[in-house]
Amino acid sequence: MGYLDAFFEAPLTRLVGRYVPVPLPAEGTFAGQNVLIVGATSGLGLAAAVHFATLGANVIITSRVASRADEAKRHIEEATGPSRKGDISCLELDLERYDSCTSFMAKLKSSVPGPAALDVAIVNGGIVNNTWEEGPHGWERTIQINTIGSTLMGLLLLGWMRGARDLRPSPAHLVFLSSRECFDPDLDELTKWSQREGGVLRQVCSKKNWPGHWWDAEPNYAVSKLLLMFTIDEISRLARGPDGDPLVVVNSVCPGMVNTQIGRNIAARSWFHALCTWLVLFITAKTADSGARLLIMTALKPKENHGEYCNFFLTPDQSRRKVAGYFGREKAKALQRVVWKEVIDELKANVPELQAGLDGGL
Ligand SMILES: NC(=O)c1ccc[n+]([C@@H]2O[C@H](COP(=O)([O-])OP(=O)(O)OC[C@H]3O[C@@H](n4cnc5c(N)ncnc54)[C@H](OP(=O)(O)O)[C@@H]3O)[C@@H](O)[C@H]2O)c1
Repeated sequence: MGYLDAFFEAPLTRLVGRYVPVPLPAEGTFAGQNVLIVGATSGLGLAAAVHFATLGANVIITSRVASRADEAKRHIEEATGPSRKGDISCLELDLERYDSCTSFMAKLKSSVPGPAALDVAIVNGGIVNNTWEEGPHGWERTIQINTIGSTLMGLLLLGWMRGARDLRPSPAHLVFLSSRECFDPDLDELTKWSQREGGVLRQVCSKKNWPGHWWDAEPNYAVSKLLLMFTIDEISRLARGPDGDPLVVVNSVCPGMVNTQIGRNIAARSWFHALCTWLVLFITAKTADSGARLLIMTALKPKENHGEYCNFFLTPDQSRRKVAGYFGREKAKALQRVVWKEVIDELKANVPELQAGLDGGL
């Protein structure tokens, strides 16, 4: 029931964040830059696209459905008005399908002048699913999209962007949408599952392990974001050059509770869920405009913050302590090694385009 954490963790900071948006950076901060937002037809992605465009960027948005992308493009154009300097373009992408991710990369490469021209990439697309569904590659859909697909996208982008470091004055940025809920899963249970047949990915995706508690509004969402945090950490490691400096600055961000489309399935579950969702959103959720500001600020993190998890309701020190307290434990590190191997084995076996990059250390 992760979304109720809003009442228990840093409620005051969350309440203030609900009413007082983080200020945006100076006008023209992203002038002439190219910004990619994966999943930008609603919620945080769409609001971030409006902010980036207002701040001068050329924005590339993605959607699974061309008509939704066109509608989002119109929305961004209307919201930013005639004074906008940059272009808005749309590409099709479904994180759930490996071939969609690779053909998207091919189209992306031909739509910007070169790898050095991509300044910011935000891997934002994600879902909450409250019924068990199998995705096209045989994994439960929340895990397929939020963990495996997002990792694949991150790796494909990193492979392309990091090769351009020498052509740029400063490293580009790769930002992943995480969630505070990544700290909720029981590591002991996942560790036990990792020793069972098929490994931890197969176990979390199995229908028989689908969290069946009636109160659970977001089965597998927290686990999907935990597994993603493991892979983001590995991607951050791959993003470092031989001298240890990041060739691409990688960060994850949790913008806190934001009123978007992602909760649509939760409220539909029962009157209890509808009431809780309404209460949580009414009391603590900020607008998408406000939440998206955290994405913008994360895309501006200096290289010294490479690899860090950014969270709006904790100070950077509190955030670091929280990450160390959960992910720094030996059992988390051991599980991370297992998860990374399983995800990479899956991707290497099914995405030939990735194989060569990974063999070459990316
Ligand atoms: N809202 C919150 O409180 C909150 C808090 C923490 C983290 N987050 C994270 O923020 C991200 C954005 O969520 P949101 O709250 O803005 O939700 P949203 O309003 O539902 O937007 C989700 C976006 O993801 C895209 N998407 C969904 N499935 C996709 C797929 N298979 N492939 C590619 N794109 C896909 C959708 O685009 P199309 O359907 O057009 O393809 C849409 O633009 C998610 O990763 C979420 O986990 C949200």
